[in-house]
Amino acid sequence: MSGPKFVQLYREDDAALRGELALGLLARPASVSPKFLYDALGSHLFEAITELPEYYPTRTERAILDRHAREVAAITGRGRTLIDLGAGSCEKAARLFDALAPLRYVAVDISIEYLRRALTNLQHRHPGIEMVGVGADFSSTLVLPPDAGRGERLLFYPGSSIGNFTPTDALRFLRQARAAGGPGGALLIGVDLVKDKATLERAYDDALRVTAAFNLNLLRRLEALLGCDARIDDFDHVALFNDAESRIEMHLQARRPLVLRWPGGERALAAGERIHTENSYKYTLDGFEALLRQAGFARTARWSDERGWFAVFLAS
Ligand SMILES: C[S@@+](CC[C@H](N)C(=O)[O-])C[C@H]1O[C@@H](n2cnc3c(N)ncnc32)[C@H](O)[C@@H]1O
Repeated sequence: MSGPKFVQLYREDDAALRGELALGLLARPASVSPKFLYDALGSHLFEAITELPEYYPTRTERAILDRHAREVAAITGRGRTLIDLGAGSCEKAARLFDALAPLRYVAVDISIEYLRRALTNLQHRHPGIEMVGVGADFSSTLVLPPDAGRGERLLFYPGSSIGNFTPTDALRFLRQARAAGGPGGALLIGVDLVKDKATLERAYDDALRVTAAFNLNLLRRLEALLGCDARIDDFDHVALFNDAESRIEMHLQARRPLVLRWPGGERALAAGERIHTENSYKYTLDGFEALLRQAGFARTARWSDERGWFAVFLAS
């Protein structure tokens, strides 16, 4: 058995990435894209978050997928190319293998070293499935390499990662996903739903402070990528639900007045001033279905849990 193939469309030491980080830090309010939360340590921390009692999305989505995988297969057919966007540990896709019997599994992620390990392990468990790992940043454009192969495609975008985009950018991304699916393509997507504020805020601010560590890890990334002298002790993790925007926001809040310095730039922060690090938009079932229609998907099926906390949509 040969191992999975890897294609890297993205390199971390890009001057463009440094420019993007600096631009965000200089903005008012300061912000950094959530994609920078994921280096290998960030990916491990995210996996730990998925085990927390407060973090309901992973186990709720998993249960929906387990319950309805065969209905998904009945609609899409078996033997497609399964393309996992933001694959992480690849475990959610792996749970679909029995029902979907993919011919090829393509795992795409920005956190390349973590993906490499996860996919190599998965290939050992499933030697009969051709596997391709793609290191890519799809935050502005979703492009799949020719190695993603021909054949009918099922794009898989779980974890409510769509919530990291503003609704306008989510619509753009969904259109790109529809195009990337090609003729006969389909999209299986997980979406977190609006619910009471306390449950939402607890999910992003757990008692063990794992999510705080995940957020604060961004400061290590600023140092590694930008040479910025940010100190972890100088910041607090803040997670709050913004009702008007229907989104959880994560911020890093300065504990004291300070100046962040990096080669070619600096940014002063007052005590209490924040760097906005992530949005996680929460949808209603009908609101997300309308977005899929707007993106050009003509047919949709949807499944949810008993509490109506999370939904999985199949769009084609
Ligand atoms: C919320 S986690 C979800 C992981 C896994 N799919 C799940 O559902 O548990 C988001 C995943 O997307 C990846 N990711 C985040 N931003 C990305 C980007 N701009 N391009 C590619 N992958 C990205 C992260 O590395 C991470 O693995």
